[in-house]
Amino acid sequence: MWNYQNIRVKPITGAMGAEVFDVDLSQDLDTATWEEIRDAFHRFVVLIFRDQELTDQQQFDFSARFGKIIPHPYVTGLPDHPEIFQIIREPGESYSWDSFYHSDLMFLERPPLGATLYAKEIPPYGGDTAFCNMYLAYQTLSDGMKALLDGLEAVNESGDPAKYHNRYESMHERKQTSALGATHPVVRVHPETGRKALFISLAFTKRFKGMTEKESLPLLKYLYDHATQVNFGCRLQWEPQSLALWDNRVSLHHGVADYFGENAKHRRVMQRATIEGEVPIAIRDAVKHAA
Ligand SMILES: [Fe+2]
Repeated sequence: MWNYQNIRVKPITGAMGAEVFDVDLSQDLDTATWEEIRDAFHRFVVLIFRDQELTDQQQFDFSARFGKIIPHPYVTGLPDHPEIFQIIREPGESYSWDSFYHSDLMFLERPPLGATLYAKEIPPYGGDTAFCNMYLAYQTLSDGMKALLDGLEAVNESGDPAKYHNRYESMHERKQTSALGATHPVVRVHPETGRKALFISLAFTKRFKGMTEKESLPLLKYLYDHATQVNFGCRLQWEPQSLALWDNRVSLHHGVADYFGENAKHRRVMQRATIEGEVPIAIRDAVKHAA
């Protein structure tokens, strides 16, 4: 147990993740408690708070302490809170949203700082969310590979906007229909911790800038396999009214689609508030900032 003054924090694995106790997120948090949550967020990258009875407004308010809440570009939000949306898997649906390792909305110019995900309706077991720590993914590369990657940029693309809603009965199209793309540093520097993290996925990263897809794929595939190895991650098991918070800049996540047999009959509803991030900081710019 990691003891702060106001909260208790229990790490999930040696790589990342922690469960936070002694906090009620429906209340206005005092400054000291808030600072401790922020510290734990930076230290553990993903946090989970259990048994939180939250209204949509309360989820919004807690999330908004980290930054502006932004809508999903392709999926409609709640009627009263269009920035917040639900990821809904109806019983028997054969696709599961986000069942691959990715960082959310990497194809925006300002990819999200992070998100909160609130468990509204969940199957009795399964449907975990797996994470991996992209600080560790970078840190464990050789000096030669780090030197190669430090100056590279990657082209990230959304792909077909329809795929975000058209395979799911209860998820609907938002106005934005054009594909989006953005070029970001392959290694980014976290603005608060100053630590370097790998920033690629196979879901959205198409190629390195200045190279073809064919040239880029072998190295991208190596980095993805390296980053998503089980040693660098943790897995969240959901319970009703669990709220997770993750730093989307320095982690990847994966919705585990283990909807087989009996487990395929259950509905799953998760509610996400996405927090706007900064334009990713490359190493050379971080050095300039520090100078
Ligand atoms: Fe996601």
